[in-house]
Amino acid sequence: MTPFFKRGGKLLMLAPMAGFTNSPCRKIFRSFGANAVVSEFVYSRAVLSGSVRVLEKLALTPEERPAGIQIFGSDPAEMSEAAAKLEEELSPDFIDINFGCPAPAAVSAGAGAALLKNPKLMGRIAESVSRALRRIPCTAKVRSGWCPSDIVLPEAALILQDSGIQMLSIHGRTRAQGYSGDCDWRIIEECARILKIPVIGNGSVEKLDAKSLRDSPCAGFMIGRAALGNPWIFKRLRLRLDGGDESLSNPSPSERAALAVRYAELVCSGDFKGINENNLTYAKAQLMPFLKGAPGFKKLRTSILKISTLDELKELLCQYL
Ligand SMILES: Cc1cc2nc3c(=O)[nH]c(=O)nc-3n(C[C@H](O)[C@H](O)[C@H](O)COP(=O)(O)O)c2cc1C
Repeated sequence: MTPFFKRGGKLLMLAPMAGFTNSPCRKIFRSFGANAVVSEFVYSRAVLSGSVRVLEKLALTPEERPAGIQIFGSDPAEMSEAAAKLEEELSPDFIDINFGCPAPAAVSAGAGAALLKNPKLMGRIAESVSRALRRIPCTAKVRSGWCPSDIVLPEAALILQDSGIQMLSIHGRTRAQGYSGDCDWRIIEECARILKIPVIGNGSVEKLDAKSLRDSPCAGFMIGRAALGNPWIFKRLRLRLDGGDESLSNPSPSERAALAVRYAELVCSGDFKGINENNLTYAKAQLMPFLKGAPGFKKLRTSILKISTLDELKELLCQYL
């Protein structure tokens, strides 16, 4: 089957975000127009640990697809074994390799952004994972470099392309920048022009105007923080691309409340597994971003934290519907 990133048109993807892009969230974002989604990242060693819970948390439902599972690690053999296991057991639509996580836990393990210091090892990991996958493509996500004096693009992007990576997402910030400061769209676009594989641009995409989005050599865009609690961003950006009226995508308080209820129902449905706590406790914490911006949010938040059943939550949110 043709992978989603070869079907044409500018893609709008949900960025992988640990602690956020779980299965219920991915379902919601797909229904709001995200063309594809990516899981929260998972350590290759955790996949191979035999933990049922790890696999349960990563399980994909038909409504989320096309959906990728993102892995991180530093050992080519371990990464390919984990990728093959995920393909076999969960059949994701693609496996994505994380080459950009700045978190100390990933970097100290020589994984994530640490690999930006070693593009040859990035290539070996990409090649090993690509070869291990039988039916699905291997994709990757990188940052522009470690710090302003150590920019690895476009060289690392070319290495990844030669190593079998079939789509590359580029976050145009360095590891040193973390999540702040300007995103370097110049370097993203340079890669998109040079590479033969599709390049997905990432980094404050919501700030790009219609012309920049439309004229970009990128095959698509990946939206991160602007999507937290805000699936409407996908409708807004699609309207921007198509020249429509973006104000039509502004959610009303009642739409926010309805979405929070839907999210809680998905988390508590029994299909969503693999979390350590009670599903309602988890849902209550995770649904707050969907309600942010609704009138009286602070008071509502306090009331939500006190309730102890899904019906109580629905009753509380009904006042907005
Ligand atoms: C809370 C949070 C968690 C993230 N987790 C991941 C992750 O698991 N894998 C990954 O590749 N990037 C992760 N990122 C980075 C985002 O995917 C994205 O590259 C970054 O936020 C820049 O995009 P933005 O400017 O649209 O937010 C995370 C970002 C945030 C804010």
